[in-house]
Amino acid sequence: MKVQQFLSVNRISVLVSIIFLFSCSKESNPPGPAADPCAGKTIVLTAAATASSPCGNTGTVTVSATGSTGFAFKLNNSGAYQASGTFNSVPAGTYTVFAKDAAGCEKTTSVTVNGTGVPGPLFAAVKTLMSGTCQPCHNNSTQNGGMNWANQCNIIQFQSRIKIRAVDEGSMPQGGPELSPAQKAIITGWITAGGRLED
Ligand code: HEC
Repeated sequence: MKVQQFLSVNRISVLVSIIFLFSCSKESNPPGPAADPCAGKTIVLTAAATASSPCGNTGTVTVSATGSTGFAFKLNNSGAYQASGTFNSVPAGTYTVFAKDAAGCEKTTSVTVNGTGVPGPLFAAVKTLMSGTCQPCHNNSTQNGGMNWANQCNIIQFQSRIKIRAVDEGSMPQGGPELSPAQKAIITGWITAGGRLED
């Protein structure tokens, strides 16, 4: 009788401690994940771009966002967040634009900075002229005076030196013959029109 009583008491205490364990372990569970601070926000990101010249990083990207506050913006994952939504001096290319609000909620979109890059007829004529008369001494491997006329961006960048040496002074091509009036007119015509790739 005593043994039986002991056993049943013991059984109850085991049961109680199992229940206790369960309720305890339930209460000591870590709290579930905090409410998502980005849930319910509808961040709308708008990005626009202007084209970049092929010989310089002259494109721009303008970004704006709605649906939250305290936004910061960056271009591409590797970029640095900034408060301004305007990015200057951007080379041609396609970018992922990021916006992040004060709570860290991020939104991305894609924007393309086009390259203005189609050579116009006046520039093409200068390039053709220079490839025959100037490139023998100014090319990818020989760059007299630091000038490489095989690189069309160099022609655009140093157009005033080209005019001084080949048109005004007539000191290039070095050793002559001096360019003809018609050839000089090709250079001045392009520069007068704006001296750009697309002229
Ligand atoms: C036979 C070789 C030769 C040819 C052809 C030649 N150059 Fe040069 N060029 C040189 C040398 C050498 C220098 C460096 C010495 C100097 O500046 O005079 C130079 C330097 C230059 C410079 C840089 C110096 C400066 O004044 O800014 C320019 C610009 C230039 N050349 C333009 C031209 C143009 C444009 C043509 C074609 C119409 C041309 N060259 C053809 C040999 C040549």
